Amino acid sequence: MKRVSLTQYLVEEQRLHNNIPAELRLLIEVVARACKTISHSVGKGALGEVLGSADTENVQGEVQKKLDIISNEILLEANEWGGHLAAMASEEMESIHPIPNRYPKGEYMLLFDPLDGSSNIDVNVSIGTIFSVLKAPEGMGQPSEADFMQAGSKQVAAGYAVYGPQTMLVLTTGNGVNCFTLDREMGSWVLTQRGMQIPAKTKEFAINMSNQRHWHPPVQRYISELLAGDTGPRGTNFNMRWIASMVADVHRILNRGGIFMYPADLRDTSVPGKLRLMYEANPMAFIVEQAGGAATDGKQRILDIQPTKLHQRVPVFLGSRDEVAVVTGYHQET
Ligand code: AHG
Ligand code: MN
Ligand code: MN
Repeated sequence: MKRVSLTQYLVEEQRLHNNIPAELRLLIEVVARACKTISHSVGKGALGEVLGSADTENVQGEVQKKLDIISNEILLEANEWGGHLAAMASEEMESIHPIPNRYPKGEYMLLFDPLDGSSNIDVNVSIGTIFSVLKAPEGMGQPSEADFMQAGSKQVAAGYAVYGPQTMLVLTTGNGVNCFTLDREMGSWVLTQRGMQIPAKTKEFAINMSNQRHWHPPVQRYISELLAGDTGPRGTNFNMRWIASMVADVHRILNRGGIFMYPADLRDTSVPGKLRLMYEANPMAFIVEQAGGAATDGKQRILDIQPTKLHQRVPVFLGSRDEVAVVTGYHQET
């Protein structure tokens, strides 16, 4: 088998479609390299003294794990000096991180969830890194949070790394979705799946069922119909999976279909769900749509939402498009 590296893929993609200029290619390669470093730390586990809590809280009031902080540092350091970025933003930092003055600035902005699925770190279950790339607005001076307030449809690239039995990088630059597997001996990313496609139909759903009593009526209705199985209105049995790492759940859905949901609920109606729009929902929505799936907040396409805050939360329904259409339809009826 002829092996195509990430670099070769990016260079050829630019030649064929003119959609990955050199600076964006550098950005993607630097992020991929950082993910390789994170993968290495993750793989060491207790031997690298990377497990456990850091005993600090992030801006969302969540206790940070050591690996949340380590991964954030790795991504910041890797991306600061290359000249390809104007600023970065992360789940683990309250405000944006402009590129320090000692380095040249570029025209891109990078957002990331450095370590997704933190509750799985200490139990050796798949976790990941999610990233999203925006263009800096024309004529931007000193970058501010306002410059990041762009709808997901403006993303020029998005991807995630999943640290599982294999380490993989899934990437879109707006021309389909491709998957690269880390060759640990060679230290290189090798293209292993081209043009990933999510089947439109599925019989598998993913939701945290322990929140059932708090759900809004459209979600109650949708899930109860799935649970009713072949004697219910759907006339078929559905299976359930919930890994509690969005990266791992989305990766399964990209490979064999499914619907992933993290709805808002009645516990605190001022909090629209758990997942964050800018560095979780938007990049995943971009990837899922590029693979032929759909992603909504229950009412509208996630990629059309105009953000107002860096860390804003959003309900998420994504995956196989026929199922996303059903649950979105139930929301629209009410
Ligand atoms: P993070 O670890 O970056 O805070 O994200 C965790 C998210 C997401 O990955 C996952 O789908 C969800 O939280 C799991 O939530 P529950 O703990 O409610 O299952
Ligand atoms: Mn996350
Ligand atoms: Mn995280």
